[in-house]
Amino acid sequence: MRKFLIANWKMYYGPVKAGAWIRAFRRERLPKDADIAVAVPHVSLAAARASLGRATIPALAAQDVHWEKEGAFTGEVSPTMLQEFGVSVCIVGHSERRHIMNETDEMVGKKAVALQKAGIIPVICVGETDAQRKKGQTKKVIKDQLIAAITDLAADGKAPAVIAYEPVWAIGSGKPCRPQDAREVHDYIRELVSKTWGPRYRDETRIIYGGSVNERNIGEYMTTTGIDGVLVGGASLDPRIFALICRTAAPA
Ligand code: 13P
Repeated sequence: MRKFLIANWKMYYGPVKAGAWIRAFRRERLPKDADIAVAVPHVSLAAARASLGRATIPALAAQDVHWEKEGAFTGEVSPTMLQEFGVSVCIVGHSERRHIMNETDEMVGKKAVALQKAGIIPVICVGETDAQRKKGQTKKVIKDQLIAAITDLAADGKAPAVIAYEPVWAIGSGKPCRPQDAREVHDYIRELVSKTWGPRYRDETRIIYGGSVNERNIGEYMTTTGIDGVLVGGASLDPRIFALICRTAAPA
């Protein structure tokens, strides 16, 4: 399975720094046998693309989207707008949006469907909080979030969804989830995918891990069965570090 490696800058880097990041990243040696994407703030997409020129690696990704094509939704951006711009990947349901912006499972599901219709790969984030894990609710939370997000998705659409397991307590905390613990959740996600879309998709769906991934621990995740890539926040802000993570994940 080709590894899926995605940088999420979150709310960092306006156009000037975005352009510089892309140019620096392009100077790095990058693996060919992996899908590499960078999720940049909407306002920096144009600068990122200008710096990319004709290069297709990294793919341009957005961090969020609205589910409608157009309309009176002040401040929002639609899947067709992203498609017109050449964005091929978009994160949905990031825990920061769920918890800070009150995004619901239903909204995440609508976004994923709308993206796929526009030919954009949705990267659907799911994950439990520390309190939920301690109460033994991890599976329930993952199930609720995942089923709401994938039930109306086409399993074999032209833009097959990627699922990102991002335990909230591991995000930006410097306390990554142990690979074997992540694997357990990934296995559970596979089971749910198989029940929802059919057994074929158990192994065909890419399930990636996110939460305090860096250049030192990437190797452990990539040698763990069932982890098909990573979603990297803080460590992706330095293009050389993210390139190193990519090379470790999928040797050039
Ligand atoms: P960190 O890598 O900074 O923990 O962030 C993970 C994340 O939220 C990526 O989407």
